[in-house]
Amino acid sequence: MQRLDGQGAIVAGSARGFGRGIATVLASEGARVAIADVDLEAASRTAAELGGIAIEVDVTSRSSLRDMAARALAEFGRLDILAANAGIYPTALIDEIDERAWDRVNDLNAKGAFFALQACVPAMRERGYGRVVLTSSITGPITGHPGYAHYGASKAAMLGFMRSAAVELATSGVTVNAVMPGNVKTPGLDEAGEEHQRQMMASIPMQDFADPADIGWAVRFLASPEARYITGQTLIVDGGQVLPETPEALS
Ligand SMILES: NC(=O)c1ccc[n+]([C@@H]2O[C@H](COP(=O)([O-])OP(=O)(O)OC[C@H]3O[C@@H](n4cnc5c(N)ncnc54)[C@H](O)[C@@H]3O)[C@@H](O)[C@H]2O)c1
Repeated sequence: MQRLDGQGAIVAGSARGFGRGIATVLASEGARVAIADVDLEAASRTAAELGGIAIEVDVTSRSSLRDMAARALAEFGRLDILAANAGIYPTALIDEIDERAWDRVNDLNAKGAFFALQACVPAMRERGYGRVVLTSSITGPITGHPGYAHYGASKAAMLGFMRSAAVELATSGVTVNAVMPGNVKTPGLDEAGEEHQRQMMASIPMQDFADPADIGWAVRFLASPEARYITGQTLIVDGGQVLPETPEALS
């Protein structure tokens, strides 16, 4: 597989967590990376470690995403890769989810990814080359879990718009795909608590959580020039979590 030398990449939501893992892998493969995050201080630290640039962005704001794309384009002179990874996963049971909580999760996760794509695609289309990789999840498109109704809806919505975007951009040289992680060792997963992690571990055939780099390598493949004939597809990275037909299959 060719290295990514000289390519310009934006990873949204990459100050920490597995966005950081995605940026680390892309940088190690030669890409110039923009660490785009709402937390500028943490983004600056990550960017310094990886030799990238930090960009402050709030993915709930369309104008902020446009500024992000313009800044990266000005720095790199080209935009090859967008990894739309920023997301939140607060838990709330159905009776507790008010309109504000629903909108917050769906605005940040689904609308944020869509407007990130919309901001970056013009520069890609102009050069006839681009790789957009969305971070969805197994939760929503495939599995369900109490407390994740709003989150699951947002992650399934991402796949809905991805497929139409892929078809719309099919002749432009821009592909749009998604990774669907299971459980990844991140500060966000730590914050979900020990009981959540215990339950999750019990359902993973590989008996291990993913490392951020495991997601990074999946993104790297979909973001490679060699993946040119793959668009509108999903890649599950979950240690086999969606596979067991019965709980007994895990023992
Ligand atoms: N950790 C998991 O097990 C897991 C599994 C499946 C999917 N996901 C998804 O992966 C993505 C990353 O998850 P994570 O565990 O690394 O999360 P995390 O909380 O550890 O990191 C998320 C990053 O996004 C940034 N961010 C938050 N709101 C933002 C905003 N409005 N604008 C820009 N940046 C913002 C945060 O500052 C942080 O750096 C999310 O989309 C999440 O839904 C996570």
